[in-house]
Amino acid sequence: MNDLTSLMRPKSVAVIGASNTPGKIGYAVVRNMISSGFKGSIYPINPKETEIAGLKAYPTVVDIGEPVDVAVMCVPAKASLSVAEDCGKAGVKHIIVITAGFKEVGKEGRELEQQLVDIAKKYGMRIVGPNVLGIIDTHAPFNATFAREMALKGNIAFISQSGALCIAILDWSLKNGLGFSQFVSMGNKADLNEADFIEVAGKDPETKVICLYLEDVVEGERFINAAREAIKRVPVIALKSGVSSSGAKAASSHTGALAGSDTAYKTAFKHAGVLRASTMTQLFELANAFTTQPIPKGKRVAVVTNAGGLGIVAIDAIELGGLEVARFSEDTIALLREKMPSMANIYNPIDVIGDAHYDRYEVALDAALSDPNVDSVAVLLSPTAVLEVDKVAEAIVEANKKHPDKPVVAAFTGGFTVEAGVEYLKKHGVPIFSFPEEAVSTLIGLTQFASLNESISDGQEWVFDDVNKQRVKEIFESVRKDGRDLLLSPEAAEVAECYKIPAAPSRLATSEAEAVKYAAEMGFPVVMKICSPDIMHKTDIGGVKVGLSSDDEVKEAFNSIMLNSKKAAPEAKIYGVEVQKMMPQGDEVIIGMIKDATFGPMVAFGSGGVLVNLLQDASFRLASGLTRREIEEMITETKAYTILKGFRGAEPDDIPAIVEAIGRVGQLCRDFSEISELDINPVFAYPDGLSALDIKIKLS
Ligand code: ACO
Repeated sequence: MNDLTSLMRPKSVAVIGASNTPGKIGYAVVRNMISSGFKGSIYPINPKETEIAGLKAYPTVVDIGEPVDVAVMCVPAKASLSVAEDCGKAGVKHIIVITAGFKEVGKEGRELEQQLVDIAKKYGMRIVGPNVLGIIDTHAPFNATFAREMALKGNIAFISQSGALCIAILDWSLKNGLGFSQFVSMGNKADLNEADFIEVAGKDPETKVICLYLEDVVEGERFINAAREAIKRVPVIALKSGVSSSGAKAASSHTGALAGSDTAYKTAFKHAGVLRASTMTQLFELANAFTTQPIPKGKRVAVVTNAGGLGIVAIDAIELGGLEVARFSEDTIALLREKMPSMANIYNPIDVIGDAHYDRYEVALDAALSDPNVDSVAVLLSPTAVLEVDKVAEAIVEANKKHPDKPVVAAFTGGFTVEAGVEYLKKHGVPIFSFPEEAVSTLIGLTQFASLNESISDGQEWVFDDVNKQRVKEIFESVRKDGRDLLLSPEAAEVAECYKIPAAPSRLATSEAEAVKYAAEMGFPVVMKICSPDIMHKTDIGGVKVGLSSDDEVKEAFNSIMLNSKKAAPEAKIYGVEVQKMMPQGDEVIIGMIKDATFGPMVAFGSGGVLVNLLQDASFRLASGLTRREIEEMITETKAYTILKGFRGAEPDDIPAIVEAIGRVGQLCRDFSEISELDINPVFAYPDGLSALDIKIKLS
């Protein structure tokens, strides 16, 4: 396949469907190419024209007779296949298909799109789109779009699934002075998709941050790998719209019911190290901050303000957002005590108070940024009659320059009075907002990136080599041979045993004598349950007996369970009666797995037991690449963790054992892609070890 550098930085571009008629897309693309300052060759293609925009025009791309890196297709969809064939014959490397009328219009369009992809594959060409605005690289420079204007030069790579959104953002960015390195409209993603463009932007030396607007992800694993690779150098921020239905589809299991419609993307983004923006505003505010400010080394924020109220709002936002209010060093406090008036608050937030002139900001900012206990600073301002707002802005820029290793954000809360200061800060790359929460939210994003990056670079997939894969394979084969997709409880318990997931001993008894034998082997008391995939509510029909402590009780239970079940469900296929060791009560948690069509198996952990669906307390991670650290982290994200740690003086549970059990479930699901759902609910957690009670495994 071609190197995509020649897509973003081509030496020659053909515009197919180039036109001399103003208002046509082929007219705009040629003019944009010329006005972008593109240094390579531009070949307009039009069967009727000899010259377009002062350039020699060719009837077809084949007639050029020179190598063509990129062809921009601006002809109607019905002409697209013959144009693509021509491109292939002419040795074109990439086609940007602006043309609409493909997958997005239905079945016929979908077929046409597939034919287009087939032609491209035949010739080893790569396709952008179809149905796109085009591509811009401001540093090349290169503008193969029909946008009104070229993007400003900058360091944000914007990759968008929506072309219309590209146009809107481009226009907005011109007004707001936001610059881009690359601007990519992906359209229908028939060939190249987000993974490819993340790879490209991740390697682009002019790109400092990658912004994504996504409606879906095409290749889950490639997307994750591309993002994980890119974030070694630049942050990746995504705004994901649309709701995935995978959660709802899988709701037949407890784990499925715990997963919301957005769980897969949330989990995958976390695993990939992709920051999630919840609004367009946040996407670009954060992107802007990443291009101008350093990444904070930790969570400790200092606030400098001349208004107590604004300071409190900022402190609340810091604490709610998972950051920390910095505790200043003694040196800082001594310095502030000396330089500030006695009414000023010299602890965090530093309140330079209402009568402050800009010089108090200078002192406070320098003190905060010099403190080793501070990782980032938020400066707040209320425009009092005595404050020189412009000079505060200058002081902020100076302080930011003097301490280039710590990010500074600002919120000037006001109207006309603060305008000039705001503009000055914008111009000098200090993220500036109207309100404290917005400023803090940007610091949260910057800090989250640091911790995401750290968690990704820390650890390998947790692999266990003491598992019995062969036996699990045999069990699955025999389940399939029996025409089932759901494992019987004793089978599921054996699978767990093979992967050393501690399960309550369980055997399938087909006779009274067997039941007695198994109960004696595992030791009293035991529980007995009817074993039939056709009987759902076992307790209701008298198919479950608990607390059985003697041979006689076991015999009696075997017979009555069989009788009750046959009576209640005469058609049901009955395999016998499960004898399970009755385990002492522990804290109830759930470990499970559901599969997402795009991102594969996701393991879950949370509060378990009969109230599982009511509690809705679960955390998810992708099974693929699952590290020990990720599992430890996912446990701490649940309410169950509070109980496991030892709630109200109770002895703490064996958390390392739970961590390991989740790791082993992850490996089981990676090893056997045919497992479509897995639920272990409840798992009894004890101060020493755990016991998996009810294990459900469903095969696809
Ligand atoms: N080779 C070269 N030139 C050709 C060929 C060919 N095989 N066939 C036609 N042409 C010429 C035409 O003669 C015409 O040139 P002219 O102006 O000199 O006559 C030019 O190519 C364009 O062809 P038209 O038939 O005039 O097509 P038109 O410009 O009306 O439409 C277009 C083409 C724009 C590609 C249209 O089919 C289309 O898809 N429009 C939607 C585009 C779109 O919205 N894309 C998504 C963008 S993202 C977003 O949402 C904003």
